[in-house]
This record gives sequence, C-alpha cells and structure tokens, in this order.
Amino acid sequence: MTPTVAPFPQARFRRARQSEAIRSLVRENTLGVGDLIWPIFVRDGDGIEEPVPSMPGVLRRSVDRIADAARDAAGLGIPAICLFPYTDPALKTEDCAEAWNPDNLCNRAVRAIKDAAPDIAVMTDVALDPYNINGHDGFVENGEIVNDRTIEALVKMTLAQAEAGADIIGPSDMMDGRIGAMRGALESAGHHNVMIMSYAAKYASAFYGPFRDAVGASGALTGDKKTYQMDPANSDEALRLIQRDLGEGADMVMIKPGMPYLDICRRVKDGFGAPTYAYQVSGEYAMIQAAAQNGWIDGEKTMIESLLAFKRAGCDGVLTYFAPAMARLLGG
Ligand code: PBG
Repeated sequence: MTPTVAPFPQARFRRARQSEAIRSLVRENTLGVGDLIWPIFVRDGDGIEEPVPSMPGVLRRSVDRIADAARDAAGLGIPAICLFPYTDPALKTEDCAEAWNPDNLCNRAVRAIKDAAPDIAVMTDVALDPYNINGHDGFVENGEIVNDRTIEALVKMTLAQAEAGADIIGPSDMMDGRIGAMRGALESAGHHNVMIMSYAAKYASAFYGPFRDAVGASGALTGDKKTYQMDPANSDEALRLIQRDLGEGADMVMIKPGMPYLDICRRVKDGFGAPTYAYQVSGEYAMIQAAAQNGWIDGEKTMIESLLAFKRAGCDGVLTYFAPAMARLLGG
C-alpha cells in the first residue's frame, strides 16, 4: 500500500494531534490490563516481603504473601502471574533435584495461588538455574552445558509444575529440542490443556543482571550463557527459532529482553502471526526506576510509553514488573 498524502496545506498532520479527543480517535494501538503478565519472586518463610535492592518496588514474597499478591492482581484484572523462586542456597546441587520436587517453593506457590485466586493464569519457569550449584540453565559436564541430559530434567520439572496446577509452562532454558519433549510428556500425562510459552528468542543479555540478584543466582553463576542463549547481533536466527518452537508445539512465543529487541518482535509477529509476547526484563525495569528515582525521567510516563511500544511492535502482551502499577493506572 502506498499511502496518499495531500500536499501542504491540504494535509496538516497536526490537525490529528490537536486535542486528546482527536488523538484518541486516530490512535493506532492501545494497552489494556489484559495485555499484562506479572513476574513475581517467591522465597521461603512466612509473612515475608523483602525488597530486591536492584529492582526498586519489587519484592520477594513468602508463599502466604504470594497468595495475597495473586488476589490483588486478580482484583486489578491482571490475567496472569509468572513465578520465579529464590531458592535456599543449601538446596542448590549439581543434580538440580529440587527442580522437580513436587513440593518445591515454586510448586507450593502455584497451589497457593490456585487456592487464593483460581481465575488467574499461573505461568512457571522451566530452567535449572535456580537449583543449579553453578547458576546455569542446564547441567554442566566438564565445563560444557549439556543439552540432551538437561532436557530429561526439564521434562520432569514441567510435569511437576503441571501437576501443581500451572496453566502455562515457560521454558527459558534455550536447550534445543525441549519444546517437543515437553509437549509430548504433557500430552502423555493427560495435561493437554497446559500451554507452553516458549522463550524462543532469548538473548544472552546483560539486562538480566538484577533478576539474577532477585533469584540469588548472581553469586552462583560461573562464566556466561552464550553457548545457549542467542547472540544479540542476530535477527534471522530468531525467526528460525520461533518457527522451530512453533513446529514442536509451542502455543505462544516470547522475545526477551524487550525494548532493545522490538525489531525482533515485529518480525516475529509479521512472520508467524502467533501469540507473541515480550519480556520487559529486570534491567529494563531497573533503568527506568533508577532514572525516575533520580528525578531524571518521569517514571510513570516512561512506564506507559515503554509498555505501549510493545503493542506497537506487534506483541499481544508483555511480561513486566510494572504490571500492578500499570493495571492500577488503567483501572483509573
Ligand atoms: C532463567 C531466567 C532469566 C530470566 C528469566 N528466566 C535469567 C537468565 O537467563 O539468566 C531473566 C528475567 C529478567 O531479567 O527479568 N532462565
């Protein structure tokens, strides 16, 4: 389509910007509370809400407080919560067995949310890093992050989460072949309605730093994740990964981080038309909060603009630590 634009002064673009009423009539994209997925951190204990220093406004909550948070989120109309465990370092081992313990922190939190707010969708993370002594998403053998043996563990983890009541499984590990293995196992176990949102295009990013503090993986991590997460220089590879994961049975796909990768979001949405999500990751959140705390930007306006950008880039939704703040604004 070649748009026709009349010459000046027949065409004056500022006519369409003259008032909020007119701007609202010509607005191309909107952000709704239904677009938000809220990532939250769970820790052990009772009655605990502990701030994460590198993520101002974000808390680690004990399971009872997670249930309260889920009730609040449901009240605000947030459709989904995504859980990440801060695992006791004593439970981190080389064999990562805590990852598929039916009573681990994550699975207890899933049950608590399902009790407290049955209508909110619960998403869980599948990767070994919260349970791994060396902080990696897969098993490490002689310095190598091994693929195929890791998949067997990820499948066990997936089944334990589905059993606990997870609605959406979020594999963030970037091993090859995991989506097909998980889908097959879920079908065989009768979990045909449990969905998979694949972290399909996940980059080896420095923007994950504050998250690794939040889940207590920063100290544990040896080396980097470049042999399994994507090179930030690549774009075509993201499309091939998305195609591969959809082919293996992913119901939804994710691009991560978000704001520096909006070009990927657009290519993915245009290329596949599948339900597409971006993760506005911890470092993106921390940058906005830090600048706002210093009075260098308007935190609220920046939050709104950053989230709307994902819709403009073609995303169907966003995982964001701003979810409750944004939902409160949208609720008026
Ligand atoms: C772990 C995982 C990470 C994030 C989500 N799942 C970190 C990593 O890959 O090191 C990052 C989320 C964020 O930064 O907000 N597999």
